[in-house]
Amino acid sequence: MSDLLIKNARFKDNKVQDILILNKVIAEIGNIGESQDVPSIDAKGYFVTAPFVDSHFHLDATLSYGIPRINQSGTLLEGIKLWGELKPNLTADALKERARKLCKWAIARGTLAIRSHVDISDSSLLAVEAMLDIKNEYRPWLDLQLVAFPQDGLIRVGSKNNLNKALDMGVDVVGGIPHFERTMEEGTESIGYLCELASKKGLKVDMHCDESDDPMSRHIETLTKETVRLGLQGRVAGSHLTSMHSMDNYYVSKLLPLMEEAEISVIANPLINITLQGRHDTYPKRRGLTRIPEQMLAGLNVAFGHDCVMDPWYPLGSQDMLDVAHMALHVAQMTGATQMQECFNAVTENPAKILGLEGYGLKKGCKGDLVILQCMDDIEALRLRPARLYVIREGNILSSTQEVTCELDLSGSKSKTDFIFSKP
Ligand code: FE2
Repeated sequence: MSDLLIKNARFKDNKVQDILILNKVIAEIGNIGESQDVPSIDAKGYFVTAPFVDSHFHLDATLSYGIPRINQSGTLLEGIKLWGELKPNLTADALKERARKLCKWAIARGTLAIRSHVDISDSSLLAVEAMLDIKNEYRPWLDLQLVAFPQDGLIRVGSKNNLNKALDMGVDVVGGIPHFERTMEEGTESIGYLCELASKKGLKVDMHCDESDDPMSRHIETLTKETVRLGLQGRVAGSHLTSMHSMDNYYVSKLLPLMEEAEISVIANPLINITLQGRHDTYPKRRGLTRIPEQMLAGLNVAFGHDCVMDPWYPLGSQDMLDVAHMALHVAQMTGATQMQECFNAVTENPAKILGLEGYGLKKGCKGDLVILQCMDDIEALRLRPARLYVIREGNILSSTQEVTCELDLSGSKSKTDFIFSKP
């Protein structure tokens, strides 16, 4: 059954309305009477949003924490080394089992689309095959978009053949890691090759770009140039861009308009950037997050990704995009009311644009995909990271959670609280 009536859902404009989903699509929004033919649920005035979208993740590495050992230094480079130690022992079954578990966590948290980078450095392409299987298996419940990611470097270890093969097997997006090539020149060469490949195949590009504290790591400049040269505007994303945190202000004032001209999307990964960057600093210690408010002000489409959950790089996480936005808001000091709303958009509509999700949104004619949160609005969602009461895909309830209420007993005086600031 894919028809569903959702009564009393609160929209961003604070209006409480009903949503009728027919044939998997939002057919009507307004005051809709009960119908005998359509099952209904009551959102009880709680906030409704389109689903969360994670635009940057590593599904092949997830939930491998502690295998074969823990990242003791906590650094990016030890994480890459550790992943290299783990790779020879990977099996398709273990990869898929971990990925399935993660996808279930994502769905329960209201994330119904994930762009995942998949490492193509190993010639067997075991991980690619496993992730393609998961993409098909989970298609009814979750949109999984895969990026061919040369983790060990495209030129550094010679992985062009593997990358091409992965794309031929059905991987959707061209990835890269220019700052991890041996030299700046080879980083530049990798960007040229990868953008030309994307142009030839009509694909999107999403590179790990300048994930470094080195202010001279300026591959984003080259990515911008190649995007314009090949007419790839609107199809290219720069993931991480942490070196922008450390760049000279004057240089950034030139760079941002160039990125805007090339319609480059930015994908910041706040949980990971704040923990991995600045590791060579004493004090003051850099945050390492890219310049999110400035990029938004320059008109760039900025999204936030989770990047990692319990893997060689990050020992925490539960695939909650509200955790991600909460961290970004704090680290980027985006506490203005509009800025907080922009942080919410950076885990919903902004990444949906990057992935090119069709029918995304909460309007008539959009897909019947939505999440009811136990809060009153988007800012409260960030403050509380509340229960996802219902997660709905094409009119089907994929996950439900009971309202969370604490019962207090203060010397016999009993009361309840749900941490909601004000109910109308
Ligand atoms: Fe990543």
